[in-house]
Amino acid sequence: MAASGAPRPLVVANWKMNGLRRDGIDRARALVLLARNKGQIAGEVVLCPPATLLHEIRAALSGSGIGLGAQDCHAAASGAHTGDLSAPMLADLGCAYVIVGHSERRAGHGESDLQVRAKAEAALAVGLGPIICVGESEAARDQGQSVAVVRAQLEGSVPSGVAGEALAIAYEPIWAIGTGRTPKPEQIAEVHAMIHEFGKARFSGGAAALRVLYGGSVNARNAAEILSLEGVNGALVGGASLEAAGFWTICEAAGGPVMAAQGR
Ligand code: PGA
Repeated sequence: MAASGAPRPLVVANWKMNGLRRDGIDRARALVLLARNKGQIAGEVVLCPPATLLHEIRAALSGSGIGLGAQDCHAAASGAHTGDLSAPMLADLGCAYVIVGHSERRAGHGESDLQVRAKAEAALAVGLGPIICVGESEAARDQGQSVAVVRAQLEGSVPSGVAGEALAIAYEPIWAIGTGRTPKPEQIAEVHAMIHEFGKARFSGGAAALRVLYGGSVNARNAAEILSLEGVNGALVGGASLEAAGFWTICEAAGGPVMAAQGR
């Protein structure tokens, strides 16, 4: 939450593989209207639509203060990688962020920590902010291994020698994604505290500005409680980001209305 000295909260909508052009543009326009009518908020809001929609959503968001991000990138800048998109291509499209290492990519595409780290480095090289996802399985949680598993993922996936403000880390317990289940508040706070500690040792500076997002079944009802926890600097929202009004309620929970929000 935006206590004094805490980084500006970041709320990211991960639309995943949802939406044809009409749906996506309508949803983006609805959000822009809400932002206009309800006033600016203290937090930073970023939409990550499917790659097919990036170009048109960028136009729909123009002048709104809502940012654009992608859901994945390749580690190489260009080359023979059929079907992939590079970080320079995404930056060229107007993206400011890219999600890397989401558990659905780690599981569905066999992505390793090393590959996730290479993607994050590729993003940083062109000024894109990587949102690096980590999170334990239900089995690991049951065995009391959440902190150890997430720590190992951080060691493998997060670049070193960069500034903490250049990226974000999203803690997303795999068992909480799309299930309607969330960890207990103290469990979220414990993992977030460890991630902030990790950042202090890992980054070249700016560790205090690192934003650690929580993701996994965040919705308009539970957002205020989750976002008020110590060490939670925003949210990565999947299912609940597909409905504009509910998503805007989550954005407001992250920062509350202000007179003038500063840019990234
Ligand atoms: P969910 O997804 O909000 O639908 O649980 C979060 C995510 O996978 O980023």
